[in-house]
Amino acid sequence: MDEKIENAVKLIKNSYQISVLSGAGISAESGIPTFRGEDGLWKNYRAEELATPQAFSKDPELVWEWYNWRRAIISSKKPNPAHYSCAKLEKIFNSKFTLITQNVDGFHRLAGAENVLEIHGNIFEVKCLKCNIIYEERSELDNKPLCRECDGRLRPNIVWFGESLDQNILTNVYDDLATTELLLIIGTSAVVYPAASFGALAKQNGAKILEINLTSTQNSQIADVSVQGKAGEVLPLIVDSL
Ligand code: OAD
Repeated sequence: MDEKIENAVKLIKNSYQISVLSGAGISAESGIPTFRGEDGLWKNYRAEELATPQAFSKDPELVWEWYNWRRAIISSKKPNPAHYSCAKLEKIFNSKFTLITQNVDGFHRLAGAENVLEIHGNIFEVKCLKCNIIYEERSELDNKPLCRECDGRLRPNIVWFGESLDQNILTNVYDDLATTELLLIIGTSAVVYPAASFGALAKQNGAKILEINLTSTQNSQIADVSVQGKAGEVLPLIVDSL
């Protein structure tokens, strides 16, 4: 077995409580575009034109067009071996496992993970700007969707640039990062805060860090083991060796 994989396995075996922080890279092998890099979503679109409250006030139909396009892509894809390996890890660690994801595709739950904190929201949830209700809406939406309860205007239940993360979810994240013994950081460029600081915070709190990514990131410097490779190949190798 590759030495890095062996070391990764040891890190997991030596831990009683573990957590995962995932980003767009974990869904790349499912066929979902990431945000940055060669074919990244932000190469073709300007974030401030689409993923900000100001953009939505200015042109809600354009913003919905973009989200409806992404919803359609995600609906046509499925979780990959990396998502299933995370769910397997949860089975091994039971209540001592937390999965923090920046992804809005819902694939971790689809693959069977249960203790999932979706810090940036979920693309299949909508929020009514009039009555504030949040509900799951998987059916196809037009570019001017209205609330099923009050006919108010809907927005995607996504945390946009310039918005705060849900306070209850953040409290759970920080509680977890205070006690976890090992944080697996998978497929994130670690440039969007606060998630970009979670690795350093966990490390400060005494956790070990295991990173899996195609390239190096700011987390590579603090990682105890940093494996470069595809999450859908590397993670099953590690988890199946436990
Ligand atoms: P990015 O697109 O910034 O980064 C994706 C990371 O995944 C990069 O570091 C890649 O090297 C890595 N990667 C790509 N394919 C991989 C693979 N098969 N296996 C392992 N790693 C791979 O995505 P995030 O870091 O998730 O916010 O971006 C953070 C946030 O920025 C997103 O949640 C989104 C975006 O704006 C919101 O939508 C609120």
